Amino acid sequence: MWSWPVFACFLHFLVPEAACQVKMVLIYGSVTSDATGISTTFSTVEDCKNGCFGSESCIIAYFSLTTCVFYNYVNDGKTITVEENSNNAYVAIKTNISNIPNGTCPASYNDLKLSVTSAVGEKNSWTRASTGWKMVNCRTGWKRFERDDNGTVVCMKIFPLFNEGGQAAAMRRCQQDNVTLSGIASMEEAEWVRDYEITTPRQRVFIGGERDCPDTPCTTFKWTDGYTKSYEVFSNAELTQQMNEEGYNCLVIRIKVGTAAIMFSQNCAASGIPFVCGYKIDI
Ligand SMILES: *[C@@H]1O[C@H](CO)[C@@H](O)[C@H](O)[C@H]1NC(C)=O
Ligand SMILES: *[C@@H]1O[C@H](CO)[C@@H](O)[C@H](O)[C@H]1NC(C)=O
Ligand SMILES: *[C@@H]1O[C@H](CO)[C@@H](O)[C@H](O)[C@H]1NC(C)=O
Ligand SMILES: *[C@@H]1O[C@H](CO)[C@@H](O)[C@H](O)[C@H]1NC(C)=O
Repeated sequence: MWSWPVFACFLHFLVPEAACQVKMVLIYGSVTSDATGISTTFSTVEDCKNGCFGSESCIIAYFSLTTCVFYNYVNDGKTITVEENSNNAYVAIKTNISNIPNGTCPASYNDLKLSVTSAVGEKNSWTRASTGWKMVNCRTGWKRFERDDNGTVVCMKIFPLFNEGGQAAAMRRCQQDNVTLSGIASMEEAEWVRDYEITTPRQRVFIGGERDCPDTPCTTFKWTDGYTKSYEVFSNAELTQQMNEEGYNCLVIRIKVGTAAIMFSQNCAASGIPFVCGYKIDI
């Protein structure tokens, strides 16, 4: 059985200002997830929806019979799936009002975009699936970045490298977690890495890029992670030509006084340098 889902978008007034950037979109449907839902005592659809709206940590609420379950923004590597159906169960999804032009629901739910930014500033967009929506979280301790290129979602984590071994050792360490040394697609990502450096005594961090000219000296570099497509940060980079047989053939994000640049070429063998591992979420 399939029926046209009914929407209602609700605007609330007696709430903190930040909450005015979001609305709850209510659909007939169900939630399946390998994440743990949080049981609540709300016993009506209206209270369930409003409870999630008022909770800073709730991203989606599922109401079935008389049970209201919240799912929170948590990076635990889990998937949340919303299925549209007509079984008198409801799903209330928190979404940024910028997705709802003029405060009205679109004529077709196929045009409905759903996304919301968490308190820690991570944007969480729902991906449209054949019969609903889906969200895959980053693993615990990994930072979520939604990129401009077709909504690619990349999770990143900065690891300290205390042993010797340079960039090659960093790559091997990423591979132990089935991930890779990550490229950097935007200034937002580069600044997130730089913010880490500010809080540690280390002032440079290896990222997944290498010089791309084996024969002649050049300043051309490429990303090595297989998923980073944007070269935006290269307009904020200081890249030298090959200088000696070791070569400054690797890339780092670095704090350097007296320059506006954020990315630099670096000796690949330099040891004790932290590094950024990353992976792309396949949805
Ligand atoms: C939203 O409002 C603008 C300006 O009033 C109007 O041009 C546009 O057609 C409206 N869009 C919808 C989806 O109603
Ligand atoms: C809503 O979207 C705007 C513009 O993209 C963003 O600045 C804001 O942080 C978002 N707020 C929430 C709660 O999603
Ligand atoms: C976005 O997706 C389209 C279609 O799959 C593809 O042709 C295009 O290259 C992608 N753009 C980027 C920046 O990855
Ligand atoms: C990496 O992949 C292997 C093989 O699939 C698996 O056994 C291992 O648990 C994975 N490690 C991590 C940290 O995910």
